[in-house]
Amino acid sequence: MLTRSILFSTAFIFSSALIGASLADIKMPDNGLSFREVEGYQDYKVVATHYRSDKKELRYIMANPIAIEALMAKKQPLPEGSKIVKVAWSIKPMTTFPDALEADQIQRVEYMLKDSKHYNQNGDHWGYARYVKKGDEYVPYAKGAAECIACHASVASDDYLFTSFQKTY
Ligand code: HEC
Repeated sequence: MLTRSILFSTAFIFSSALIGASLADIKMPDNGLSFREVEGYQDYKVVATHYRSDKKELRYIMANPIAIEALMAKKQPLPEGSKIVKVAWSIKPMTTFPDALEADQIQRVEYMLKDSKHYNQNGDHWGYARYVKKGDEYVPYAKGAAECIACHASVASDDYLFTSFQKTY
């Protein structure tokens, strides 16, 4: 039995390493927020998609279970531990049907974490982090979180969130 569980755990660790489950161990220069804070975000539920016409980027907004529940119920402010991730892609015509566009290269991944003990710059209670894709790697956003705080302050009355839940039915 013991041998079997050792074999099983070894296989699990090995397969996790193979699929590269871990995010890079990198941190924001000013607030120290780590990319690993949103480990597993690929499994979060999609809240909304946006297209930014000036940057020609497709964006997915994704939320962890605590945040998605509140967003679907339109409950604000979002609870402690809420995590909202935004992934931005450049776009390209689909090779199979060029009039349709599809996501091309990931440009950056960023997130907001509701943690009122550590982050309360404008009374917002959110920590902000951005990781920029350079080749195959991510690097923390060198300018830090000040501009995130300033721009998101324009939607302070919506818990500093631009996004609301986009229905799929
Ligand atoms: C100039 C304004 C501006 C700045 C600066 C900015 N954002 Fe945003 N952010 C937006 C807008 C507009 C949206 C919604 C549209 C979209 O998805 O691009 C958004 C959406 C988001 C979302 C999804 C939740 C929401 O509020 O809709 C996250 C997470 C996010 N931004 C994180 C960041 C982080 C981290 C930074 C700083 C590194 C940052 N933002 C800087 C304007 C800004």
